Amino acid sequence: MTAQIISGTEIAKQIREELKQEIAELRQKHNLVPGLATVLVGDDPASQVYVGSKAKTCKALGIYSERHDLSAETDEPTLLALIDRLNKDPKIHGILVQLPLPKHINETNVLLAIDPKKDVDGFHPVNVGKLMIGEPDYLPCTPHGIQELLIRSGVKISGAEVVIVGRSNIVGKPLANMLLQKKAGANATVTVCHTGTSDIAFHTRRADIIIVALGKPKFITADMVKEGAVVIDVGVNRIGKTAEGKAILCGDVDFDAVKEKVKAITPVPGGVGPMTIVMLMLNTLKAAKMAAGLAQEEVKYGI
Ligand code: GUN
Repeated sequence: MTAQIISGTEIAKQIREELKQEIAELRQKHNLVPGLATVLVGDDPASQVYVGSKAKTCKALGIYSERHDLSAETDEPTLLALIDRLNKDPKIHGILVQLPLPKHINETNVLLAIDPKKDVDGFHPVNVGKLMIGEPDYLPCTPHGIQELLIRSGVKISGAEVVIVGRSNIVGKPLANMLLQKKAGANATVTVCHTGTSDIAFHTRRADIIIVALGKPKFITADMVKEGAVVIDVGVNRIGKTAEGKAILCGDVDFDAVKEKVKAITPVPGGVGPMTIVMLMLNTLKAAKMAAGLAQEEVKYGI
């Protein structure tokens, strides 16, 4: 079987074009420019790359963005004071605090400090709760990107057996909640596997759709997947460096072997990664519209 390679790069490009047009219209009709503030504490190289590409995408789409890069020694009160300022700033519609934070800062305190209306990551407990009851304002970016990838690649989600490997607050848990809602682009039977699961392969082998987000290079091998399944690989593992010093990336799936067996699969890089950023842009646009009291027309994306 020749697998369909689901290109997140291509699908993200389409969505970027759609967003760019909508942002230009918002500026023309309502003189409104969406604004995003990113906050990075410390100098983790991967986080710096992520925050840098968020700023670049904002610029390309016509979104105002501000970077707040703070030293690793920044204390919690200083960070909370910055968030308070951003909560009150009318230019800023979305606030993203890059995770993980240094150990001396309490992540829950920080996420609780962000105004839920500006929480474009969808990590505030109010937004987590709204998602759970099926009335989300903001869908978390990576799960939403995965759902859009599936929808736009023509994968049938309703009625499917979905197995998610990984139970993080950023991917596994919200994604499970999204895909089990009784809505279009969802309505699946969802199983979540994790480090306490005694036999992960037992679950993955019976899955129509496998979504892997656990951070272990090539964890999912060909014998763990059903013939004709769809595989979404969220893993971004740095497994070495090229002679030029560029990181060599690898997913959580043994891509070369698994692709011989499945109907469709995402590559790493170029799969889920580019989708996460466009969904952040979508949430920032939504935040600006909500702040301006502009009615949300139809919900265009996802659930
Ligand atoms: N770290 C890894 N993924 C994410 C994300 O989606 N948002 C934030 N804020 N931090 C992250």
